[in-house]
Amino acid sequence: METAVDDSSQRSLDRRNAEFWNELCGTGLARAIGITDVTTESLRRFDDAYFGMYPYLMDYVTPYALNGKKVLEIGLGYGTLGQRLVERGADYHGLDISPGPVMMMRYRLQQLGRQPNVREGSALEMPYDAETFDYVYSIGCLHHTGNLQRAIAEVHRVLKLGGRSIIMLYNRHSFRQIVRVTLPRWREWLNRRKAKVLSGEDVRAMYDTNSVGEAAPHTDYVTRQEAGRLFAGFSRVCIDVQNFDSFWLPGRILFIPRENCLNNIGRVLGLDLYITAVKRETS
Ligand SMILES: C[S@@+](CC[C@H](N)C(=O)[O-])C[C@H]1O[C@@H](n2cnc3c(N)ncnc32)[C@H](O)[C@@H]1O
Repeated sequence: METAVDDSSQRSLDRRNAEFWNELCGTGLARAIGITDVTTESLRRFDDAYFGMYPYLMDYVTPYALNGKKVLEIGLGYGTLGQRLVERGADYHGLDISPGPVMMMRYRLQQLGRQPNVREGSALEMPYDAETFDYVYSIGCLHHTGNLQRAIAEVHRVLKLGGRSIIMLYNRHSFRQIVRVTLPRWREWLNRRKAKVLSGEDVRAMYDTNSVGEAAPHTDYVTRQEAGRLFAGFSRVCIDVQNFDSFWLPGRILFIPRENCLNNIGRVLGLDLYITAVKRETS
């Protein structure tokens, strides 16, 4: 986990994030399945493909009675999860640093006949009063902000007492990181010569790129222990591991598709940490 950046580099990172993510996260998936417009049918096809890729995601929604609850989502992308939260009756509010995802979510809400309560702003300085929300969802966003500690303190601030956050952060102890980042570094150190070690930008590009192949401006990766420490101010903290890459067995003898890994090795060395945590009723 990188340390927090100073104020002027934080502003510069915020600007770069706003620009980079203006191309909706999920654009690659949309193109791969031939989606070029935003008709209801195209968005439905996109959402089906998205939940096909992340079949466990609704397990972090369906257990909760969201009907009538004030729910904030931070980091909206294509708006797929946001729409599900709305369809489950949530009093939905969205926040994103970039205009593209904000426009997409407002559009979806208008199509659903709902108030477009979506704001452009940073997760590090949320434009909401303390103790406003019953639930805060943020999937794959806070590790891009440049200051995880502050982002999580903000989540804590805007939650009501007893409110719950559901946050996804990248796992630093994933199979992907071990094989592609940690082992090459060890090999370099053991052999005392330059091995094929990826740069920070190369590693970021393994996670998030835009359509011209540029990496996201900033990404943090956390271990379960670090995640536990980040959420130390909450109670009932539960950390699940999810998501996995397809891979070849050594010698390319067999290709293992990611779907076959999600419910076994993916739950141990998966790419993502899903952290659910409750704001204590008493301090
Ligand atoms: C990887 S996408 C994830 C989108 C969506 N949650 C999903 O899972 O598809 C990251 C999102 O976080 C937003 N984001 C990045 N930095 C942010 C910040 N500092 N404050 C608020 N949103 C931010 C981006 O604009 C983008 O929509």
